[in-house]
Amino acid sequence: EKGGYATYMEKEIFDQPQAVADTLLGRSNAAGDLQLDDLRISEEQLAAVDRVTIVACGTAAYAGMVAKYAIEHWARIPVEVSLAHEFRYCDPIADEKTLVVSISQSGETMDTLMAVKHAHDLGALTLSICNTHGSTIPRESDAVLYTHAGPEIAVASTKAFLGQITACYILGLYLAQLKGGSYADDAKQVIAELQDVPSKIADVLSDVSRVREVARFMADTRSVLFLGRHVGYPIAMEGALKLKELAYIHAEGFAAGELKHGPIALIEPGQPVFVIVPGPDTPHGLHGKVVSNIQEIRARGARTLVIAEEGDTSVDEFADEVFRIPHTSPMLQPLLTVLPLQVFALELSTAKGLDVDQPRNLAKSVTVE
Ligand code: BG6
Repeated sequence: EKGGYATYMEKEIFDQPQAVADTLLGRSNAAGDLQLDDLRISEEQLAAVDRVTIVACGTAAYAGMVAKYAIEHWARIPVEVSLAHEFRYCDPIADEKTLVVSISQSGETMDTLMAVKHAHDLGALTLSICNTHGSTIPRESDAVLYTHAGPEIAVASTKAFLGQITACYILGLYLAQLKGGSYADDAKQVIAELQDVPSKIADVLSDVSRVREVARFMADTRSVLFLGRHVGYPIAMEGALKLKELAYIHAEGFAAGELKHGPIALIEPGQPVFVIVPGPDTPHGLHGKVVSNIQEIRARGARTLVIAEEGDTSVDEFADEVFRIPHTSPMLQPLLTVLPLQVFALELSTAKGLDVDQPRNLAKSVTVE
């Protein structure tokens, strides 16, 4: 069942081109427009939505953070992301024009389920992004958008995460399409570009030997930091979470802009820091700002492990290691930048002789509050 791989997690990492392709499959028509026939919610109801709140836990919540950037940019609807266990107890504001989107691989996470029920009681529209057909959360929601990542066995989420991000993109682009005009035109371009992403994922995964090597040499590392900006920020958090879960190493993800407001004090000679570099065409000069961050931490002795686009030579001078990803439009980059981080955590856990598929103290679905 592991398809020749040593662990489920490794198999699931390499399943990711398929997971994304299957999540996209059958959701656009010949004209390149999204068609979400299985959504169980009318276009009129969705078109009336004036606020989106995303509720999720763990990795799924990081997919939700990516969704915030995407939905606000494409559909110009305000999006809030709330950890499901915080949502319910913070007196949330929601009404019938609020779309509460839950994201859950298992569809059984109790914290997320309770948030959905609470949203329902407030009169909000509820939409579940879920990987497990017939599970509780989609059953308790008004609408459902299934990720088609296939069964995920390893406790730490990989392919379900990519499926979740893909589904969030589909939702954001659909909301943009419903708005019509230039929103719909822009969405159409992204929908077309998304079709090329599975082969780019396969490209990255076809050569991860250097990430594996670097990870194996770091088995004694006690702390790793991750920096990202814009959609790279949730990916930095996800890279850190993977390392905590799988290798039991202290790890923290930061928004790169926060560096000078605190975390830079942590930098001492030899401190490993992953940096996710936005593509050079990212708006607002974010690429240059992140390259400056690499320079700043390198000057203080950090060991810089950089994830950057192919052909982006601006990072070479300040990087101890560069892991390359193909070019995409800035919003879609998370589907690629997370890959080296997943492989890094997998390999480091393996190098430490740990149980990759069943990390200590964790369960695949947490059905208690
Ligand atoms: C945690 C798992 O307990 O639940 C994480 O360890 C997962 O990997 C999180 O991201 C949420 O699970 P689900 O099934 O709701 O996506």
